[in-house]
Amino acid sequence: MEITNVSEYEAIAKQKLPKMVFDYYASGAEDQWTLQENRNAFSRILFRPRILIDVSKIDMSTTVLGFKISMPIMIAPTAMQKMAHPEGEYATARAASAAGTIMTLSSWATSSVEEVASTGPGIRFFQLYVYKDRNVVAQLVRRAERAGFKAIALTVDTPRLGRREADIKNRFTLPPFLTLKNFEGLDLGKMDKADDSGLASYVAGQIDRTLSWKDVKWLQTITKLPILVKGVLTAEDTRIAVQSGAAGIIVSNHGARQLDYVPATISALEEVVKAAQGRVPVFLDGGVRRGTDVFKALALGASGIFIGRPVVFSLAAEGEAGVRKVLQMLREEFELTMALSGCRSLKEITRDHIVADWDTPRTQPRYTPRL
Ligand code: FNR
Repeated sequence: MEITNVSEYEAIAKQKLPKMVFDYYASGAEDQWTLQENRNAFSRILFRPRILIDVSKIDMSTTVLGFKISMPIMIAPTAMQKMAHPEGEYATARAASAAGTIMTLSSWATSSVEEVASTGPGIRFFQLYVYKDRNVVAQLVRRAERAGFKAIALTVDTPRLGRREADIKNRFTLPPFLTLKNFEGLDLGKMDKADDSGLASYVAGQIDRTLSWKDVKWLQTITKLPILVKGVLTAEDTRIAVQSGAAGIIVSNHGARQLDYVPATISALEEVVKAAQGRVPVFLDGGVRRGTDVFKALALGASGIFIGRPVVFSLAAEGEAGVRKVLQMLREEFELTMALSGCRSLKEITRDHIVADWDTPRTQPRYTPRL
């Protein structure tokens, strides 16, 4: 059957992948309330389209941290992509580069920073998990820098791994023929089987729970790369991130895989944008599956969005061609949304082009009971 939207890849991936792998990719934490909410919240934002504007030319291009990209749709870090397809992160890197956009490589990739760099030119960010052993971190950051990565996305929502019950039931672990390639030479590339989730045990053993704002400053002493703080959901933390030297903020709830019952990222976005006061760009990931979602995020002040699961699902279904198709479908849908809303460039997308359920009604006066 012909694929006509991004979400359709999930069912194909489910058929193709071993249950342990599909569940790892698809799951959220605990009740998975936030997982549903990441999608549902988009449906509570409606358009206020403007009409009779010449939309014969649409420019979706933008600049992220000084790098020009063809559209505000980028690739979030997702771990262990070779479980989805033998070409894993190589395929994703090539697809992103062909689309003229940014790929973020996970610390827990099954391809190393050097290997991904060798796939050819492209603007790439490196997602960092901070290990207890800071020499490991410093080495890795240096390698990413040398391999030409342009920014560090520091994940700050994972001092411990969220409770993903499917992974516990499946005793999830990295298949023995794969390694966390960035850590291979450091004896940290393998994941043992555990009585529950092998990944949760790995995190408990290796990831630094003491991570705090002072480490954001420390990171700036070991690298010149700009640092995006990934996993901010509140105004309070936005202000501290800006004070701590972050070059940008990614509003993220880790694809609903960490703390359940946090709001959808699209619901938290505006609070963060307001607190950032235009001092740093704010990005969003979580539940973006349609061009209309991209538009809504930009109307609420995001400078761009990242997609996670659509990449691994399309990779499982069709490899590089699948990821290319996902990026192409989102590009076309976003362009159409801009045209039908009367916006010719990203700067023409405004808060007035949408109405959210938390806005005071604009069309009806508020009902005041007469006494
Ligand atoms: C992730 N995410 C993630 N984040 C991160 O900082 N480092 C990582 O290694 C991973 N790995 C990972 C694996 C898988 C299978 C998923 C689904 C997610 C979170 C990711 O970067 C992003 O925040 C979400 O995936 C965005 O939500 P959607 O697009 O998946 O709904």
